[in-house]
Amino acid sequence: MKILILGADGYLGWSMAASLSEDNHELILVDNYSKRKYMKELNRTPLCKMPLVTTRIKILKRLNKNISFYEIDCMSYKKMKSIIKKHKPDAIIHFAELPSAPFSMLNNKYGWDTLHNNLQSTFNLLHCIKDIVPDCHIIKLGTMGEYGTPNIDIEEGWINIRHKNRKDKFLFPRQGSSLYHMSKIMDTDLIWFYVRNYGLNVTDLMQGPVYGIYYDDKHKNDELVPTFTYDDIFGTVLNRFIVQAVVGTPLTVYGSGSQTRGYINVVDTIKCIKLTLENKPKNGELAIYNQFTEQFTVNELANLVKKSLARIDIFAKIKKVSNPRIEKEKHYYNAKHSNIKKLGLKPLKLDKNIIIDIAEYVSRHKNNINTKIIQPRVNW
Ligand SMILES: NC(=O)c1ccc[n+]([C@@H]2O[C@H](COP(=O)([O-])OP(=O)(O)OC[C@H]3O[C@@H](n4cnc5c(N)ncnc54)[C@H](O)[C@@H]3O)[C@@H](O)[C@H]2O)c1
Repeated sequence: MKILILGADGYLGWSMAASLSEDNHELILVDNYSKRKYMKELNRTPLCKMPLVTTRIKILKRLNKNISFYEIDCMSYKKMKSIIKKHKPDAIIHFAELPSAPFSMLNNKYGWDTLHNNLQSTFNLLHCIKDIVPDCHIIKLGTMGEYGTPNIDIEEGWINIRHKNRKDKFLFPRQGSSLYHMSKIMDTDLIWFYVRNYGLNVTDLMQGPVYGIYYDDKHKNDELVPTFTYDDIFGTVLNRFIVQAVVGTPLTVYGSGSQTRGYINVVDTIKCIKLTLENKPKNGELAIYNQFTEQFTVNELANLVKKSLARIDIFAKIKKVSNPRIEKEKHYYNAKHSNIKKLGLKPLKLDKNIIIDIAEYVSRHKNNINTKIIQPRVNW
């Protein structure tokens, strides 16, 4: 297949590119390096400074020559149009968004940057596809955070409603808890508008927080590991807990720690997207999958990290800190996630071995850890 990956320098975009390059697809990678620019602006550093995509694709090209990279901003309609016209992809995987809730709540500028970047890149993509390659399969990364924490079961994207003896199917109600989540909700509305009006075919993946490292078996090269962040703004919770344990500072649980979410290993993220590529929806259909494999409370994650790492003589402490976020701490949470299993995913279960593997990677780069960027500083 000819696959365009938007946001290919990112945590998930790079993992996807490295993995798909092994399957001999033609890959067209795009990124504007905005994540690197914002991290620098905010004095946040990843665990390892990763080479630019131009350098890293040289390694991938040893096995697959059909890979190209464009340093392009998806907010430019003109540039997006020229890439899509030139390559006419069969599928596009859209990761090119600003993905951080704390970043979006830091101030007016970053809030607007998040809304503007995410909506404009999604809008440009949909518009180009409608005009140039309407049969192209768009795979868009959404988030489970779009649904919030309703006091009813969360369905996979859609809900059937009976009202005054009539019934219809609607997008499941959404209620974001940050401007980042609001941008994803608006993306989903925009996607559904384009699908129902112009017959596009889109899969919108409502993904839970991702953990772990995609480590490419064929290349076995640390330079190909995606950027691993652990700070208060760009890091996700389990990766951050493991870094805190390795460096010997307490695992910071926000509030009571009973907040529940659905989590997924990055290796399963890649598998899910590959399964999605093989299962294109019909034109005029918006397929929505809840892309996570297991639910945990934050306390359960912290305790699992503590217990697992004690086996390799890392003795972590857990500390509750006041919650910097506005969110329900005690709430009902039961989210359906069977669509992706129906496509064939055999989920990886989070266990001590997985946590130890991640900790071993982090330990190899322990000297790079900056303990000053971990404590939560963005309140809303
Ligand atoms: N990582 C997670 O835990 C998680 C969970 C749920 C959903 N998601 C979603 O998955 C997607 C990828 O997340 P990630 O963790 O890989 O994020 P990331 O920040 O590591 O990667 C995103 C990449 O997109 C690029 N980008 C952003 N705006 C761009 C633009 N206008 N033009 C070109 N490139 C642009 C950035 O430079 C970055 O390299 C996001 O849409 C995010 O919302 C991620």
